Amino acid sequence: MRQSSLVVVANRLPLDDNAALDGASEWRRSPGGLASALHAFLPPIPATWVGWAGGVGPAPTLPDIGSLRLRPVPLSVDELREYYEGFANSTLWPLYHDAVQQPVFHRGWWETYRAVNRRFAEAAAEAAEPGAAVWVQDYHLQLVPQMLRELRPDLLIGFFMHVPFPPPELFMQLPRRVELVRGLLGADLIGFQREQAAHNMAQLAEKLIGTPTADDDIEVDGRTVRTAAFPVSIDVAEVRALAARPDVVAQAKQLRRDLGQPKRVLLSVDRLDYTKGIEHRLTAYRELLRDGHVKVRDTVLVQVAVPSRERVESYRDLRDRIEGEVGRINGEFGRVGEPAIHYLNQAFERSELAALYRTADVMVVTPLRDGMNLVAKEFVAAREDGAGALVLSEFAGAAAELEQAFLVNPHDLDGLKETLLRAMEAKPDDLKVRMTAMRKHLAKHDIVAWARDYLTALDHTGRLAETLPGKPRKRR
Ligand code: G6P
Repeated sequence: MRQSSLVVVANRLPLDDNAALDGASEWRRSPGGLASALHAFLPPIPATWVGWAGGVGPAPTLPDIGSLRLRPVPLSVDELREYYEGFANSTLWPLYHDAVQQPVFHRGWWETYRAVNRRFAEAAAEAAEPGAAVWVQDYHLQLVPQMLRELRPDLLIGFFMHVPFPPPELFMQLPRRVELVRGLLGADLIGFQREQAAHNMAQLAEKLIGTPTADDDIEVDGRTVRTAAFPVSIDVAEVRALAARPDVVAQAKQLRRDLGQPKRVLLSVDRLDYTKGIEHRLTAYRELLRDGHVKVRDTVLVQVAVPSRERVESYRDLRDRIEGEVGRINGEFGRVGEPAIHYLNQAFERSELAALYRTADVMVVTPLRDGMNLVAKEFVAAREDGAGALVLSEFAGAAAELEQAFLVNPHDLDGLKETLLRAMEAKPDDLKVRMTAMRKHLAKHDIVAWARDYLTALDHTGRLAETLPGKPRKRR
């Protein structure tokens, strides 16, 4: 086994075994922000990525991506159900997202979560050379830092939580709360999307384990565990280049024609997930149509809902509800050849997404809770023309950075309708000022800056960050 000085551990590898019902399978880029974020800077680095390749059964053999080695971790059918669909996505995911959906606590799932975390920890321990840095990602793997420290005390261990980390009032509901906090405290540095999450962690450690804390640093077992916010970002250069490609520009024009040359195009792009506020958005849109503020002939809404976690019941129920509502709205307000909503329940190529971003007049991003939301950042990066309005939920991590967006509380239906109208009617000059400010922010805070900030905080020396692509930048 070849070893690396940097090992990244995430539930998913950047390649997903997308098995079709007829047994055929194809490799495609993994869904979600985490995989795209890490994939943006890891390939040129001699690192190893430990993760699940999608599918069940023995791990496939995977080629390197550039200098990046992929080390697949196998999951059985039962493990997929109890670890991934169960504890990770039916207990932790809803609880960490403000319990917008009731979390399910099922005692049987815990042992599997622990066993799978151990398998990831062992794979990482094997892949790490002496004194290496191991960077563990997200809520699926919260026990890995502590397990890894026991296996390999020589390692530098980092953890980054891509999703929100809830306040103690919510976290305390978890039957295995002490073990989960202890698991995280195996790390040297725990990174979050927002400052508040770091406070939550420090408070929880104090409350549940009795560890002294100062400025969100936590003293445990004679070590200091640091916590801090590192808002994740996107590959700004990639999105800009994609959006400027002549075929993408042509495709954007064609899309507009296909949509019937409306006055305005509203666009939403989400994984089909109950945290994304899709239902709230549809309700607001229905009322705007009903009240006559929006006319089908002038305005269309394109809703891309990428299939996600389809074997989990709450996701299937959500899909039924959304498709029912889209059908009702189109049935009531659509005309022949002019639906009110174009609903697309499929994954899109990056270039097609870039064309959609270019076509949109208003990008509508209304999650009820979201760690960051990289779609909002991608839209901004794609708008070289300085046009386009971004309607963004206050409850997305991105709202703390993209302050010039039309910020909105998606629970406030009247507020949401009013904000959508304001965004639709905003003057081009106003939009340009907003877009320019947001683009300026993003240009500085791209994905490489994120990785550099985190890795420099992890090793203090800057040695890890030296391997990153691009020129070093001063820390904010
Ligand atoms: C979120 C999570 C990621 C996850 C992604 C896609 O962004 O933070 O860890 O990979 O959703 O979800 P999936 O369950 O398909 O991996």
